[in-house]
Parts: sequence; structure tokens; C-alpha cells
Amino acid sequence: MSASEIGLPMAVPARNLPERVRIHEVGPRDGLQNEKNAVPTEVKAEFIRRLAEAGLTTVEATSFVHPKWVPQLADAEALFPQVKDLPGVRLPVLVPNARGLDRALALGADRIAVFASATESFAKANLNRTVAESLAVFDPVVARAKEEGAHVRGYVSMCFGDPWEGAVPLHQVVSVCRALTDMGCDELSLGDTIGVATPGHVRELLAALNEAGVPTSSLGVHFHDTYGQALANTYAALEHGVTTVDASAGGLGGCPYARSATGNLATEDLVWMLRGLGIDTGVDLGRLVATSEWMAGRLGRPSPSRTVRALSHKEQ
Ligand code: HMG
Ligand code: MG
Repeated sequence: MSASEIGLPMAVPARNLPERVRIHEVGPRDGLQNEKNAVPTEVKAEFIRRLAEAGLTTVEATSFVHPKWVPQLADAEALFPQVKDLPGVRLPVLVPNARGLDRALALGADRIAVFASATESFAKANLNRTVAESLAVFDPVVARAKEEGAHVRGYVSMCFGDPWEGAVPLHQVVSVCRALTDMGCDELSLGDTIGVATPGHVRELLAALNEAGVPTSSLGVHFHDTYGQALANTYAALEHGVTTVDASAGGLGGCPYARSATGNLATEDLVWMLRGLGIDTGVDLGRLVATSEWMAGRLGRPSPSRTVRALSHKEQ
């Protein structure tokens, strides 16, 4: 059986869920930033091409961060022009500061993401700044990106727990989300960087953000799957009305500055659940699984995604 003829779950819609979800694919960025060995630029470009062909319409391509901090993505200048004109796909890139924005704009990037933290410990580890200092860096970056007509996403990491500080109070998360919204970010992505969230916590944070005037329509969710809770957390977010979900093909991922972070929610596991719920994503699951199998071959280890494994076995 070929990858494009594999099985799909029976679609049984549930009540009060969105009709369509936009998957924000982060494999090439969040996935590959954590690889021990550098992945060749050509392989990254091919990965992005295959993800686009599988129907993913938003693929986070790379980061314009300091090459010494994230050497795995030091080839951003070589990679981005190779994928920039792929049809039908938006290619957001991460920028940590004005220098990163300059680099991204010089190559014609039109979707950028700044990345803040809800905790001081991670702000320091990831950006070498306090939370307030990093927000002060982002303010003019967001303003200039908007002036240049770019779409701006604001990530907030450690929304549900922090490896150094433990529990993270809701008000801390809300205050950073509010600051990014006030700066003019078009959307926010709520990061469970170390995968400790559970569904009730997700619901509580979304409600607290709404109460603070941050609308659900501007919110995406970004779950790492360390404790196997990412799909349950996603379901809770869908019930709340969230329609943007971050995921990583094959479950690649982690964060080099938070050792307890493992891979993101696998895009295949997400697509399987959404197909079963009758929610449209536009993604061809067979082509996506084939892409993750191909990437697993390049990385020399199997994908941790349950769906990739199940469907790969089916083909033998
Ligand atoms: P720093 O060392 O404080 O930088 O790093 P600085 O501002 O002091 O500048 C030092 C030198 O670096 C200067 O050069 C700058 O020009 C240069 P010099 O004048 O000495 O010759 N520099 C740069 N060069 C190239 N590109 C740049 C850049 N910026 C400065 N953009 C910095 C501060 C923010 C740069 C650094 O900490 C950094 O790059 N951090 C990035 C860390 C990162 O990428 N982490 C992973 C992404 S976040 C994540 O994964 C979480 C997420 O998935 C959500 C979730 O799961 O929670 C998004
Ligand atoms: Mg992440």
C-alpha cells in the first residue's frame, strides 16, 4: 500500500468545535534547532518543499538568531532564498532583535515571530535578557515589521511551567501576552515549552486571557509533548474556540535552552485527531507521513509520532 492510500479515521464530528484548523508547522525550525548534528541546507529546503506539497500552508522555516546561540540554524541566509517562492505556503521566521529583523527583511521575509518568555529564568537562558528588557527589544522590532507590512507572531514560552521556577502564575503569562498584543502582534502562540500543561490549565489560561481583553481569535497553542498531554491540551483549546495549532512533522523538536523540552505535538497525530473529528486542515496525511519517514531516514532515527509509526507499519 502506498503512503497516499493509507487508512484514515472515520470522521465523527463532535459538537462545539471549529470547522477548520490552521496548522502552524514548526518542524524545520523548532524541530531542527535541536538536532545534535547539523542538517544540510539542501535537506532542510527539501523538507520544507515536501511539507508544502503535503498541504501545510504555514511552515516556520528558520530563525535569524545569533549563529553561535543556535548553530543548527546558522544557514538561514542560505536556506530562506531556496524556499521563499514556494507556491501556497507562508514561511514565518523567528527574529530575536533588530539585527535578526534586518536579516529577515533583507531576504524578503513577510512573516516574522518574536519570542518572549513568561518567566525570568527562561528569558535569561534564551535571550540573555530579563522579561522587561526583552519586551523593550521587541517593541521597535514589531513596530518596524508592521511598517514593512509583515505579519507578526508573538511567542510566549513557559506559559504552563518552567524547569527552574516550577509553577508559573497565570497573571505572569497574561501580562506578557497583553504586552505583545499592545505592541501590535497579529497573533500570539502560547508555548508549553516543557510539556507540563494539562487540559484544565489550558482552559484556565485561555479564559484569563479573554478576561484581559486578548481575543481567542488571536491565540494559537504550541504544545510540546513531553508527558503525552499535547493532544488532550489541543482538544481543550479547540473547545475554547482556538483555530491555530502549532505542530511539528514527525514530532521533531525541543529547545536548546530548556533541556527538559522534548518534541512538539506531532503534526501527524494532530491531523489524525482532526480528521476523526471532521475538522478540515487541508493536509494530505499520507504525503505528510511519507515526508516524516523520509526525514527520519535523513536523521538516522525513527519518528516518535505514534501515527507515523502506525501508518509506516501499515505499509510493510
Ligand atoms: P547576546 O549575546 O546578548 O547578543 O544574545 P547582543 O545583543 O549582546 O549582541 C552580541 C553580538 O551578537 C553582536 O555582534 C550582535 O551584532 C550579534 P558584535 O557587535 O559583538 O560583533 N547579534 C546577532 N548576529 C546575528 N543575528 C542576530 C544577532 N543578534 C545579535 N539576530 C540574542 C542575544 C537574542 C542574540 C541571543 O540570545 C539569541 O540569538 N538567542 C536565540 C535563542 C533561540 O533561538 N532559542 C530557540 C528559539 S525559542 C523556542 O524554541 C521556544 C518556542 O518554540 C516556543 C516554546 O516552545 O515555548 C518559540
Ligand atoms: Mg517550541
